[in-house]
Amino acid sequence: MDKLVIHGGRRLQGEVSISGAKNAALPLLAAAILAPGKHVFHNVPRLRDIDTTLELLTTLGVEVDRSGLEHDHTLAVDTANLKSHLAPYELVKTMRASVLVLGPLLARTGQAEVSLPGGCAIGARPVNLHLKGMEQLGAEVQIEHGYIKAQADKLHGAEIAFDISTVTGTENVMMAAVKAEGRTVLQNAALEPEVVELAEALVKMGAKIKGQGTEVIEIEGVKELRPVEHAIMPDRIEAGTFLAAAAITGGELLLKGARADHLAAVIAKLREAGVAIEEKGGGLRVRGDGLRAVDVSTRPYPGFPTDMQAQLIALMCRAEGLSVITETVFENRFMHVLELERMGANIKIQGRSAIVTGVPKLSGASVMATDLRASASLVLAGLIAEGTTEVLRIYHLDRGYETLERKLQAVGAEIQRVKEQ
Ligand code: EPZ
Repeated sequence: MDKLVIHGGRRLQGEVSISGAKNAALPLLAAAILAPGKHVFHNVPRLRDIDTTLELLTTLGVEVDRSGLEHDHTLAVDTANLKSHLAPYELVKTMRASVLVLGPLLARTGQAEVSLPGGCAIGARPVNLHLKGMEQLGAEVQIEHGYIKAQADKLHGAEIAFDISTVTGTENVMMAAVKAEGRTVLQNAALEPEVVELAEALVKMGAKIKGQGTEVIEIEGVKELRPVEHAIMPDRIEAGTFLAAAAITGGELLLKGARADHLAAVIAKLREAGVAIEEKGGGLRVRGDGLRAVDVSTRPYPGFPTDMQAQLIALMCRAEGLSVITETVFENRFMHVLELERMGANIKIQGRSAIVTGVPKLSGASVMATDLRASASLVLAGLIAEGTTEVLRIYHLDRGYETLERKLQAVGAEIQRVKEQ
């Protein structure tokens, strides 16, 4: 298992290119199952989760051409000949988003067997709302031996109201509904930009969808869909992570490709903390000079994203004053706090809130990554900690950040990837 070794204390300066959005690419690759033929995706991020998704699609019979991925982030998938409808445990257990093939397989073949994604470090993460939506569209769903077994001779439109806003739940049910007979209305649908991007790609494939980006999405089923060529939007969480990196080191960065409209809540909160951020040069210019403590509660989009909570906590470890950061989306997403405390942070957990008191310095230590964004927060802390920080188990990081250490090296960080024997 690799680790990152960071010598803290360098101010970051320079330009960073933001990669394509992981959480847009994953559902888009699953959506390709809906329309037989060759789909082409541009600006695909090179990530472990993308590799896992391509492995899953290959087991389903999809032909994957990743020759373009290395030099220009282009990927082609030909879904003409599916040969299986089984998403096996050994793949799903490494990436819960594999459950996103459920809706497309049901819509395309009328059957699907998808391993139930287990819980993960940040919470139980059930998929009950995905399954309830499929049943309302006319599928029969059983859980047997840890697998979701679903089948539907024909899917029909339905009025579906999600008990809670669920990103992949909205995506999965929307993909099942686009070929269902008749009209489907999704109430309390997720508003995330990745959901909107998926809907727009489905419309390019011939689907009839409106209301994406609002709580009510309306879908008129169509008989056939056609393959799509689509460029993936920039990753708002990677961009937010680099905003935090500039802020925590007191540096100045230009984030090329970052979209301010996808980061309004993050930008507002960082500005409140004293970070200078402006739209410039087709991206965002960010300058950190002094940090004030701020309070925040994570919320579904357009609120402050849970995927930026760990990064903000790292930032607040060095801010003047006391911050209260409340995690309302997941029940166990403070694993990074214990590791940050080992670096000298002053954080107290009270229920769903972390009370962070800024400290004059953090000290380098060996710390353990537990989930994707927790890993990012440990890297941020390492960038300003005195001495050396080793971040272990960075396969978590590799799931969602494309060559993070190289991007940080290019703007002045002293960070190396060390391959563990
Ligand atoms: C998506 O996960 C993202 N993953 C997550 O990003 C992100 O943290 C999350 O949305 C929230 O924004 C992808 O898009 C691949 P949810 P998802 O369903 O869809 C509960 C990252 O770092 N819930 O919106 O799994 C659930 O337990 C990852 O890139 C049910 O109860 O999240 C949670 O409390 C981490 N039943 C809440 O809803 C269900 O059927 C929101 O979860 C589904 C969800």
